Amino acid sequence: MSGARFEPAGALRGELRAPPDKSVSHRAALIGAMADGPTRITGYLDSADTRATLRAVVAVGAEVREGAPDDHGGLFVEIEGIGLRGARPAEIDVGNAGTLLRILPGWLAGQPAGEWTLDGDESIRRRPVDRVADPLALMGARVECHDGRLPPLRVTGSRLRGIDYAMPVASAQVKSCLLLAGLLAEGETSIREPLETRDHTERMLASMGASLRRDERRLVIAPAERLEAGDIPVPGDFSSAAFFLVAALIVPGSEVVLREVGINRNRVGLLTILSRMGVEMGGAHEGDRAVTVHDIREPGPEPVATLNVRSAGLRGATVTAEDVPDLIDELPLVALLGCFAEGETIVEGAEELRAKESDRIAGVVEGLSALGAEIAARPDGFTVRGTGELRGGRIDARGDHRLAMLGAVAGLASREGVEVDGFESAAVSYPRFERDLRSLAG
Ligand code: S3P
Repeated sequence: MSGARFEPAGALRGELRAPPDKSVSHRAALIGAMADGPTRITGYLDSADTRATLRAVVAVGAEVREGAPDDHGGLFVEIEGIGLRGARPAEIDVGNAGTLLRILPGWLAGQPAGEWTLDGDESIRRRPVDRVADPLALMGARVECHDGRLPPLRVTGSRLRGIDYAMPVASAQVKSCLLLAGLLAEGETSIREPLETRDHTERMLASMGASLRRDERRLVIAPAERLEAGDIPVPGDFSSAAFFLVAALIVPGSEVVLREVGINRNRVGLLTILSRMGVEMGGAHEGDRAVTVHDIREPGPEPVATLNVRSAGLRGATVTAEDVPDLIDELPLVALLGCFAEGETIVEGAEELRAKESDRIAGVVEGLSALGAEIAARPDGFTVRGTGELRGGRIDARGDHRLAMLGAVAGLASREGVEVDGFESAAVSYPRFERDLRSLAG
């Protein structure tokens, strides 16, 4: 395990292109493999997690041709799809990728024949998969898992039937898994979410000819014979850009421009919370704001924008259960913002954080406490008392990419600097993170 040290920075300055989106990259490779013919993906994320997905689609029979990376580390990837019913049996190593682990079984479960196992690293073996195994079983699939709820997962292909399913947890991964299974089922599949989650899968499937409709919280997918291959541009990852957004807000005097940031409305909940924390936000013609969102475009199924960010004062705010799905991966950053805010910041209704790459409630609370934060855990989140500063010290990334990057940003904003143990985990979603961060601090 290696560490990295992040010293207190002067004002952050400069411009960055957000790295490619992890959620969209996983889906582009998987859905490209399910299509008939070649799908061309531009700006595919080159990271440990999304490499695991490319290996998985090759294992089930798709062909992957990789072009040269662009200037920002995005890959050009062409996937020769094998069609909806063409996956061949395989043993699949998902590494650390929970999204791959939970979405892929939906496709495999509906194959007419074959058997697949999905397994991964230590952390993956602690991540619940009954949330996909249970509804797939209701559709007629055969899915076995360790202790009934953990990987390894064994999927035996079966004929599926459509169901009407109310999801007990709001999860885009579970929803996506069931949408893929729905394509292969007999009759329509209807999925109800307790709260809306990111709709990248719906957008991509619709652009490839699948028949989907939404009424209220109910999503209905019809079975399909085929998906049409096409071009998929991957937007920048809001969750990765969020580290710079927060760094610029809390390091005094900063002014940063983040380009090509994906602004899917179920991903940008952090912006809502920032306005609740008193950060002024607006569009290009709305005067001088701490966060300006402009140059909004839709180069493909996903909207992107440029974000101009400068440092700003913050006041404490409460994040409630209804807010959580739209900023699930940014909640550790809310804890850091809370340290620099006036008053108390509370995150509640976020017990899902305990089932991420690490127990993120424990990781954030113990990690930031060790840096001098006044933060306490709740069963479903945490409470932070803002002191307007952070001393610094040592934080353990716990093998979790988002905690590694949290520690780095905390270091820049701290008085004494932060040593991040296990910083290399950042490569799970953002291998160029350190280089990009230091380019702003330079
Ligand atoms: C993801 C959904 C979220 C998120 C994860 C990526 C996705 O997980 O935390 O990083 O790509 O669908 P859940 O579906 O478990 O909430």
